[in-house]
Amino acid sequence: MITVGMDYHVLPGKQRDFEEKFNAVLTALRGAPGHNDSKLFRDVGDDCSYLIISDWSDENAFGEFVRSQAFRDVTNWGKEQILSDRPRHKVYKH
Ligand code: HEM
Repeated sequence: MITVGMDYHVLPGKQRDFEEKFNAVLTALRGAPGHNDSKLFRDVGDDCSYLIISDWSDENAFGEFVRSQAFRDVTNWGKEQILSDRPRHKVYKH
């Protein structure tokens, strides 16, 4: 099992676009072998600050997701139009 924690900070006014894209990625991940669940949390003290927690039972499946063209399209869009800073992430293996 691995759990990934991702910190994101979006540009003011881009919160809805980010949340909608998260839901689109989650819909694509639903039913994907090796993905258990992913959740999006918003900071009550800063509505541009988010945390994604993503649980995987298969590390290879996670690797394929991160290397996929579909995900690269999301991250490129995110870097160009949505995020104010580079996301920071932590991977917890358990
Ligand atoms: C279920 C939803 C999501 C999951 C599980 C997820 C997971 C991840 C992971 C694991 C990484 C690190 C990849 C690496 O090690 O190279 C990453 C990077 C990134 N993610 Fe997400 N992400 C999600 C949604 C999003 C969304 C909606 C955006 C759009 C703004 C986004 C934008 C990015 C960007 C820009 C990077 C950095 C890529 C780079 O450094 O080149 N992610 N994400």
